[in-house]
Amino acid sequence: MLNSIILNDFKSFEGKNTIPIKQLSTLIGLNSSGKTNVLEGLVILSNLVSGTDITAYFNNYSNFARQDQLIRGGAKGCCRGKKKSFTLGCISSSTDGYNLEYQITINVSKEERIVVESESLFKILGGSSKQLIFKTIKGNMSSGDINVEYNNHKRGPNPRLTINKNSSVISQIEKSYTTSHISNYEQVAHLIESSNKKYIRKADLSDIMKDSTPLPELLEQTEIVRKSLSKIKSLNPIPERMRNYVSRNAGPLQSDASNLSSVLSTIFSDHYRHTKRSISKNPRNDFISERIEKNEKIYQKILEFINLLPEYTINGLKILTTPAPLRDVMFACIEERSSGDDLIMPASLLSDGLLRITALAVAVLTSENSSILLLDEFDSALHESKTLTLLEKIQEYIKKTDSMVILTTHDTPLLNNYTSELLAGTIIVFRNKQDNKSNCINFYDLNNVDSLVIKGGLGEATLKNGLQPYLNPKDSQNKVSSIPSWLSSEVDQ
Ligand SMILES: Nc1ncnc2c1ncn2[C@@H]1O[C@H](COP(=O)(O)OP(=O)(O)O)[C@@H](O)[C@H]1O
Ligand SMILES: [Mg+2]
Repeated sequence: MLNSIILNDFKSFEGKNTIPIKQLSTLIGLNSSGKTNVLEGLVILSNLVSGTDITAYFNNYSNFARQDQLIRGGAKGCCRGKKKSFTLGCISSSTDGYNLEYQITINVSKEERIVVESESLFKILGGSSKQLIFKTIKGNMSSGDINVEYNNHKRGPNPRLTINKNSSVISQIEKSYTTSHISNYEQVAHLIESSNKKYIRKADLSDIMKDSTPLPELLEQTEIVRKSLSKIKSLNPIPERMRNYVSRNAGPLQSDASNLSSVLSTIFSDHYRHTKRSISKNPRNDFISERIEKNEKIYQKILEFINLLPEYTINGLKILTTPAPLRDVMFACIEERSSGDDLIMPASLLSDGLLRITALAVAVLTSENSSILLLDEFDSALHESKTLTLLEKIQEYIKKTDSMVILTTHDTPLLNNYTSELLAGTIIVFRNKQDNKSNCINFYDLNNVDSLVIKGGLGEATLKNGLQPYLNPKDSQNKVSSIPSWLSSEVDQ
């Protein structure tokens, strides 16, 4: 589970910012305060940890140049002002109850070769004491490799590994550790024997080693961090891009939801088979019928989400198809009419709000267990009377799937209706007038938070520019040197 996000000299954030998050976190703040920057930081972190080639990723080369995944301003745009490096990181919790702090610093001084400058993983022992798991050692910047020392809990100097700077250390450490530990013929022979396999590829050795020996701490802990960051998905649905016919096999939902019709066509065809019961009772079909059952549930839930918005009822979905051989698809809503002849409304004619809520429903309902969904301006184009119900539906679902959601919103009345649980995950993002830095503060770290609630809630206070007296955080770590103007005028005491 992810506990906190770390941003250091990243975009509008200066110095080290540790932002605690909850299962459902809400980022609020004025335009340009830094909300999207936080989400972008997480997406980049997730890509780095998964082992992407750093230069190719930041320069949007090849398969990274997907329209829905571009990093605003590329690598240089990630550094605060004119700085040449930036740091991203997180605090993850293990099931054994301790926390791990991971950080990666990317150096962008040469745009044609963006590399890891430093990287570390520590176990947090409580208070400010930390125990090393691994960290890079300062070396020659022009070298292609970086040295990493790791804790083997033995006397004497820590052992070292040499790792390529083009990808994150954490994504390469397992292979590197394994190779350095299988150095002679006997060890290889022993591994092959213990695996009961006849033939083994070199690339398989680390997997076998993981199975056959108790996992060393280094690999166990890096795996926890990698896992907690691997299922991050961001959603920024763009209605115009959902109004076209798309190829029917376009894979999982993209960040801009441009392939929404494609994803819906798969779900719909299973719904169709479900209603026709077109799967025979053959045990080989078990996994297919399981998928059909799952997609039927998703289909019904999607209808529930969509029906939150309009005054009329949407009876079902339909998939429109272009003639063969292309057979591209576009989804449509079936609008109920009392006269009986229902109206088929294709995506090309649907409202922005309806398209966005459909995309949101699909993203939430098709996400894997323990994933982290980032929903920027989740309620944009939606009527404010509907957002709380929508949020409650999302909350109910992520509790079931052990997932997390981080969303941003401008909807201040919504905040007045926040439960204490939602408020505990509410983070106010704002800029410092003097140095322009972004700051984050948790709702419950505001001063006199009780009186703020009595006066009508967070939304009311934000609307009336009345948060200033509360923005002197108790937590000295997140010290705010001055208050932004939108919070400092006309305090309603
Ligand atoms: N590299 C950078 N250095 C300093 N500030 C930056 C950098 N990149 C973006 N910013 C600031 O962040 C702002 C965008 O923040 P963003 O997170 O998109 O705002 P919002 O809260 O509206 O989502 C920009 O207007 C700019 O002021
Ligand atoms: Mg934004």
